[in-house]
Amino acid sequence: MALLKAAIIGGGHIANQNHIPALKALNEQVEIIAVCSRDINKARALANNHNIPFAYDNAGEMFNQEQKPDLIVNCTANNLHYAYTMQALENGCHVLCEKPPAMNAKQAREMADLAKLKGLVLAYNFQRRQSSEYALLKRYQNEGQLGGIYHIKATYLRRRGIPGWGNFTNKTIQGGGALIDLGVHILDLALDLTNYQIPDKIVANAYDFIGKAGGKGLKGVWDPSKFEVEDAVFAHLSFPNNVSISLSCSFALNTKEAESVNLEVFGNKGGAILNPLSIHTEIAGELADIHFSHLEQADNQLQNTIAFLDLVSGKQSNICNGEEGAVLQEIVERIYLSAEQ
Ligand SMILES: NC(=O)c1ccc[n+]([C@@H]2O[C@H](COP(=O)([O-])OP(=O)(O)OC[C@H]3O[C@@H](n4cnc5c(N)ncnc54)[C@H](O)[C@@H]3O)[C@@H](O)[C@H]2O)c1
Repeated sequence: MALLKAAIIGGGHIANQNHIPALKALNEQVEIIAVCSRDINKARALANNHNIPFAYDNAGEMFNQEQKPDLIVNCTANNLHYAYTMQALENGCHVLCEKPPAMNAKQAREMADLAKLKGLVLAYNFQRRQSSEYALLKRYQNEGQLGGIYHIKATYLRRRGIPGWGNFTNKTIQGGGALIDLGVHILDLALDLTNYQIPDKIVANAYDFIGKAGGKGLKGVWDPSKFEVEDAVFAHLSFPNNVSISLSCSFALNTKEAESVNLEVFGNKGGAILNPLSIHTEIAGELADIHFSHLEQADNQLQNTIAFLDLVSGKQSNICNGEEGAVLQEIVERIYLSAEQ
């Protein structure tokens, strides 16, 4: 079978560290033909470093070449996800887009609709779906072992983890703070376990006390005068069939651990904790806890890229797709709205 031709748009950290290495590792299926980034010198340097033939600073020019990509990995900043994804879909390319899907619900809906209209794959890079723990938990759920899940406690908390570099505290570029950057990863998992539904009620609170005070943490010194986003969000999501999710995420919070990322899942037959994975159930009338001491760690990015390529070649895989991305973005928007109100 002919190799799929891939192009990267946005040549920063995530392109260099995650997506290019993953695509290179899958060179029996896919070849990277081009990199497009804002600065042509950076695009050329990245292309040279990874032996990629073409570099551009204009995506339109890239799409007009005879050698057109079959798929795009959109690694640009959050405020550019929509425009480049729409452009790629218009040009007949499948898209793996970085998270969060977009800046608002309307954009994410349009992205999903255009992908559907064009018959193309749109997926998002929530690569934690492929972690060994989560993949096993999902298999266990699919076997019916947890019964009906009725509540999930989803947390992504950093004690002092406001990045002192990049655009993380810039609302215009990022669209938000801890929720947009961290919370969406764990929200994606919680939604994936509960059928990716739209909640009928959301109550949320957001804060910026620590961000606005300034300080230094595990990710450097941040400038309080440039802190435009929330440093913590707490939200309760209530779904029509009496399922609920409680989401807590922070860049900075007066808590014990430097960072904790977890799901606590409660079903009527069993419960689970994601990190480290344990199952809490009853066996023959006795309470039982199951721990997994032999789990080999997956390369989450590589597995998510494989999941994307599987969808492109018509196979099934568990990756956040365009429709799910639109639901997630609607929930994010409603969380911010509730917090504002
Ligand atoms: N899935 C994850 O775990 C994860 C981790 C880190 C970042 N991300 C996401 O990846 C995206 C990029 O993050 P990053 O850390 O690589 O940021 P970055 O700032 O390192 O890279 C962004 C790149 O986009 C380029 N760019 C900016 N404007 C452009 C334009 N108009 N046209 C083309 N390219 C342009 C910049 O030159 C830069 O190379 C963000 O959406 C972020 O949320 C996801």
